[in-house]
Amino acid sequence: MRLVLVLVMALAWACSGGGPAQDAGAGEVTEVAGGDTRDWVTPGPDWQRRTVFYQVWVRSFQDSNGDGIGDLPGLISRLDYLEALGIGALWLSPIHPTPYADSGYDVADYRAVNPDYGTLEDFQRLVEEAHARGIRVFADLVMNHTSDQHAWFQESRSSKDNPRADWYLWADQPNLPCTPGLQFGDSAWKWDEGRGQYYFHQFYEGQPDLNYRNPEVAAAMLDVARFWLGKGVDGFRVDAIYTLFEDLPGTPEDQFICGHHPLTHAYLKTLRQVLEEYPQRASLAEVWGPTGTTAAYFGDGQDEFHLALSMDQELAIQGALMLDAPSLLAPKLTDTLGRLPEGTQYATFLSSHDWPRVMHQTGNDPARARLAAVLLLTLPGTPIVYYGDEVGATNTTAQVVDKRDGSRAPMPWTAAPDLGFTTGTPWLAPAPGNETACVAAQDQDPDSLLALYRRLIALRNRLDFLGSAPIRVLRPATSTDKLLLFVREAQGRTLLVALSFAKQALPLTLDLSALVSVAATLELTSEAEVPALTPQNAAAYQVTLGPHGYAVWSL
Ligand code: GLC
Repeated sequence: MRLVLVLVMALAWACSGGGPAQDAGAGEVTEVAGGDTRDWVTPGPDWQRRTVFYQVWVRSFQDSNGDGIGDLPGLISRLDYLEALGIGALWLSPIHPTPYADSGYDVADYRAVNPDYGTLEDFQRLVEEAHARGIRVFADLVMNHTSDQHAWFQESRSSKDNPRADWYLWADQPNLPCTPGLQFGDSAWKWDEGRGQYYFHQFYEGQPDLNYRNPEVAAAMLDVARFWLGKGVDGFRVDAIYTLFEDLPGTPEDQFICGHHPLTHAYLKTLRQVLEEYPQRASLAEVWGPTGTTAAYFGDGQDEFHLALSMDQELAIQGALMLDAPSLLAPKLTDTLGRLPEGTQYATFLSSHDWPRVMHQTGNDPARARLAAVLLLTLPGTPIVYYGDEVGATNTTAQVVDKRDGSRAPMPWTAAPDLGFTTGTPWLAPAPGNETACVAAQDQDPDSLLALYRRLIALRNRLDFLGSAPIRVLRPATSTDKLLLFVREAQGRTLLVALSFAKQALPLTLDLSALVSVAATLELTSEAEVPALTPQNAAAYQVTLGPHGYAVWSL
């Protein structure tokens, strides 16, 4: 199953520290996110269901010292921009020391900050400054594996009888039938000369899997979580969580399960208990799997994750955008929601550090990119905006680690060759198109993509039922397969969304009489003119949407 999913991921591309928490050090710990008294963008419990997240690839967001690498002081200097965008939470890519074999998802020290990015003090300042603007901060927690440079692994590989000998998965023969994903190599086993054994790695060979059957490992990683929670982070995006446990040859459970192991769920419940030790924290699972499998990571709704990335829905959105075929998406919309425990929801996204950028998915078509933005911010779930998508940043062909670098190019702040990102040479060659796809060019333009994102996020913040409210896809009387028409309803409030996936103008006659009992408020549209929608004309409401046009009303 996992191989299939990694294949899907690859296809998508083809188209386009150790001790207990107390060790943190007296005076360093800042317990800041008690929550209720702060002026959060999204206040109160369950904030994670009502807020808009923004994913930052720290290395590419803003450089402050001219070394061509984005850093935490640079990110802090851009917080005003993020506040104006209206987002309520940040998710940061891993910020730890790393040999960069997997772009930072190979962590060499969980309790330190990569010197390229700054210091622990910079991180604390980032949390404080973000919180002062009402923005919460999620860290990326990479639990399944460490870097082969991590002190734990160095010790483990040193002999068969050192105290951490059993912290990783060692074997005399490469005998687990799991295989890594395509881009991670052809064998999940790597011979280690020092130890005289093979170690197991689900991802790159520089990312040895930790042995979670060892209670010391299980406890050490919970302490890592406590360390960062103590620094004020508001939660974690937890990396590749379905890979934590696998069956070892010779164990009683030996069924050769490589992912989605039942023991993983038991362990995740202990992670949730740690989160519960701190007020108003939340968690986001990264699970590669079909909806049913992913939903299992919510547990009973209270004991595993709060949110989970919906890979299924992302693929469906991508397909619908690429092929102008909303029928690929419509069935998924109800499907992804139908089976969730109360209080949980998916996180919806269009692109990420693992996926091509929206502009790439839409064939660099600005109208489709606008449609995608409306989709992202009106669908159910917690939306995550990937840095730069809000100005239509494109993919770069440059590559340092692997093909996924395509969507990790420096943030286009200005039209200058250095993008306003650095005074030095960017660590990854910029993506083309920043003359217009940049913040400076769009900031003051009310018709820009950036302005649309700001309006959509403001709408989302105002109508905060949009995260959790159900979706109802309507079947319009007009015969077309290019229209996606849906409503989002809660507590007597309704949002009506009409999206055209047509390349030409799409004239529509819609029977909306069951919905419209008072005149509707037009919230957003791509059109110069949209006729008022009233009880009088709702039975045969006529509107024409332009190519990839949209209209959004509240009722
Ligand atoms: C997750 C990350 C991906 C990384 C992998 C291994 O899927 O999103 O970037 O390569 O885990 O850590």
